Amino acid sequence: MDKVCVITGASAGIGVGIALSMVEKGGIRRLALVARRREKLEEVAQQCKKAGATDVLILAKDLSDLRSCAEAVQETVQHFGSKTV
Ligand SMILES: NC(=O)c1ccc[n+]([C@@H]2O[C@H](COP(=O)([O-])OP(=O)(O)OC[C@H]3O[C@@H](n4cnc5c(N)ncnc54)[C@H](OP(=O)(O)O)[C@@H]3O)[C@@H](O)[C@H]2O)c1
Repeated sequence: MDKVCVITGASAGIGVGIALSMVEKGGIRRLALVARRREKLEEVAQQCKKAGATDVLILAKDLSDLRSCAEAVQETVQHFGSKTV
């Protein structure tokens, strides 16, 4: 089973670089991208798919809110399956 990589702060800056590096250099095909701005995450998801990602989950969450952190984990497990996270 392919690994899943969860990247926070994925809508800008270092997080975008990490997401693309994970795909291009790390061979990761399945990603969960987390930040508040959904439209930016959608752009990054497209970039990741162009680079070879096959399944990119977008999680528009404010991680200063603990409930949102828990939701991000739960939705990642739900999407990719519990054995992969
Ligand atoms: N750039 C550098 O050279 C450098 C050097 C050393 C350390 N750092 C540190 O590394 C971190 C990232 O730096 P960066 O330059 O990549 O910053 P950046 O371009 O401002 O990106 C910050 C990321 O965090 C997300 N974010 C901010 N608040 C959030 C929240 N409450 N919930 C969810 N996501 C949130 C932003 O997305 P949304 O706005 O869409 O939520 C964005 O994706 C920062 O803590 C910075 O201080 C940076």
